[in-house]
Amino acid sequence: MDEPSSPAIEALGLTKRFEDTVAVAGVDLRVGPGRVHGMLGPNGAGKTTLLTMLMGLVRPDAGSIRILGRTREEFGARVLDGVAGFVESPRFYPYLSGRRNLTLLAELDGGPAASRIDEALELVDLRDQAGAKVGGYSVGMRQRLGIAGALLRDPRLLILDEPASGLDPAGMRDMRALVARLAGDGVTVLLSSHDMGEVEELCDDVTIMRRGGVVFDGSMERLRERAPDPAFRLATSDDERALTMAGDTPGVAAAVAGRELIVHAQREHLDEYVIALGRAGVAVRRLDLESSPLEALFFALTEAEEPKEPAPDVPQEVAP
Ligand SMILES: Nc1ncnc2c1ncn2[C@@H]1O[C@H](COP(=O)(O)OP(=O)(O)OP(=O)(O)O)[C@@H](O)[C@H]1O
Ligand SMILES: [Mg+2]
Repeated sequence: MDEPSSPAIEALGLTKRFEDTVAVAGVDLRVGPGRVHGMLGPNGAGKTTLLTMLMGLVRPDAGSIRILGRTREEFGARVLDGVAGFVESPRFYPYLSGRRNLTLLAELDGGPAASRIDEALELVDLRDQAGAKVGGYSVGMRQRLGIAGALLRDPRLLILDEPASGLDPAGMRDMRALVARLAGDGVTVLLSSHDMGEVEELCDDVTIMRRGGVVFDGSMERLRERAPDPAFRLATSDDERALTMAGDTPGVAAAVAGRELIVHAQREHLDEYVIALGRAGVAVRRLDLESSPLEALFFALTEAEEPKEPAPDVPQEVAP
């Protein structure tokens, strides 16, 4: 696929300090048009600070930002035309209805925003509850109303800080479906998350942050290629024998962990190993996934003593 020329976001060397903390330390970020891009990282990694700078709410100490081809220097506040979203969580008047809140937002925005209220409510599945006070909304309904508010601007770029935070599994599913639908309509989405599973499901590209820096940047495919074998927790009728047999099975590595074994293997090798155990009269009593390959990689990247050398992943790869 040819990469379209103009990225939705191009940030270079973005830096933000708060007293002693360097919240964002020279981050480069490139978000391709029409892509769903995840910012992933543990608490305090700098995700919100980065998004806040992109949305023009906080001034960077250093670095440059180009959004939908425009810079603030050239365009002033109009740099954000076509951009919508929220950082931290969306805020509303609790004693007013969802619809009334959107009406007020639309008045602030002016233009055709008011004519989009029904469509936005429909898209986030809040049409039936639009007349109720926001104070009585669930967390998930508020997040969705936040997105409806963003959609009033008919954005080409949506920036969402932890859109699934605080949602129950059904709420998360709805949120993911909504993001996928918007992406299908050609909206570029940049979202932050600390959940690898969510990012894996939703995103084409991912930037993983750790302590203000970038430890991975590239496509989801490239991240998958770098992931280690999945780890499984295994309990058998004869762990000692199982451990020896793991050593004899290609593609399988095992180690003792308390009263169980941790086995690292790809599925097909694991299958061969489990069948061999059965043949040898060793009963498998429990076999659970301990960590998915991507989770294991995420922990390795974000919890290592020193950041892994970021160099090989810094050049951006937007499309395969
Ligand atoms: N207004 C502020 N004043 C002082 N320090 C701040 C401020 N905002 C953020 N920080 C610090 O900057 C670092 C990055 O914080 P940030 O909120 O950007 O992380 P995050 O990745 O969004 O974390 P989380 O997953 O918890 O939302 C943290 O060490 C945080 O304490
Ligand atoms: Mg945050």
